[in-house]
Amino acid sequence: MEENLKQILDRLKDETSYARNPFDIEKIRVTYLGKNGLITQLKKKISKLPAEEKPMAGKLINETSKKAEKTLTQKSETLKKELLKQKIAEETIDVTAHFENHDSGHLALINQTLEELETIFQNMGFDVVEGLEIDTVKHVFDDLNSPADHPARSTSDTFYITDDILLRPHTSSMQIRVMNEGKLPIKMVSAGRVFRNDEVDATHSPMFHQLECLVVDENVSMANLKATLETFIKEMFGDDMQLRYRPHHFPFTEPSLEVDATCPVCRGEGCPACGNTGWSMELLGGGMVHPNVLEACGIDSEKYTGFAFGLGVDRIAMVKYGLNDIRLLYDNDKRFLEQF
Ligand code: PHE
Repeated sequence: MEENLKQILDRLKDETSYARNPFDIEKIRVTYLGKNGLITQLKKKISKLPAEEKPMAGKLINETSKKAEKTLTQKSETLKKELLKQKIAEETIDVTAHFENHDSGHLALINQTLEELETIFQNMGFDVVEGLEIDTVKHVFDDLNSPADHPARSTSDTFYITDDILLRPHTSSMQIRVMNEGKLPIKMVSAGRVFRNDEVDATHSPMFHQLECLVVDENVSMANLKATLETFIKEMFGDDMQLRYRPHHFPFTEPSLEVDATCPVCRGEGCPACGNTGWSMELLGGGMVHPNVLEACGIDSEKYTGFAFGLGVDRIAMVKYGLNDIRLLYDNDKRFLEQF
């Protein structure tokens, strides 16, 4: 019996020394110590031995069993440590390795410009109003004092959806919507997309952006319009900016004017960007709100006056960032977008 147990233990030790992973150990455990394992079977035979041999045999088998257990546990621990070491070695991070970084996106230049403009006006106490891109003929033309034969109303200039519903060709329709709400005084800006049936070229796009400004209160004068524009343009482009006012005509303002600003590239010296004039042309149109427009919205034009203007946002972005082609703003060329 003793010899037999010794052989069994030696075999177990031998097999264990070849084990490569926890599964091998488990297999050995089952072979020797499992329900029908070699050592377990010997334990079962004790009862058949003569009485005087039983204690000795029991003791020997228990000792062998413990030694077997210990051998297996030790090997198992060693294997676990080795496997861990191996895993750590395999998973070491190579800090010198170079991987392509994922680019994170950002707002397009035109939206950055819109936000910048809105912030400037908010800081001057203006409300920012969300605008509708699809609107009615009444809001876009009729109530803005634009006669039925006004050229802008024709289908060659404006995208109609039905006879009465259209893609707004300017943000001035927001003047009507805000005045119709009936709350006075008004001090608001509303920026967004506008649509005109224009051929695409370096300075035209059938979709572009405007920012509309409207102030209505008692005693609002041209001086308020001038002060607002000059504060805005200096905030946007710097304190040395000058504005130049030219008489113009819009059906919804009287008097009306167009405004040019010092060319921010050459600061008025004259350069290719401004065609050597020293001025950025036609940044905005505006004027004093026509009494007919106030009356169409139920506002007493004897008591209240107002000013309004519409800024070309794309033009502002082009001047500010020195772009020579409006299409750059919409082409989604990464080489362009990544610069801002
Ligand atoms: N809506 C005019 C345009 O699109 C600009 C404008 C706005 C003029 C407000 C006067 C007052 O050209």
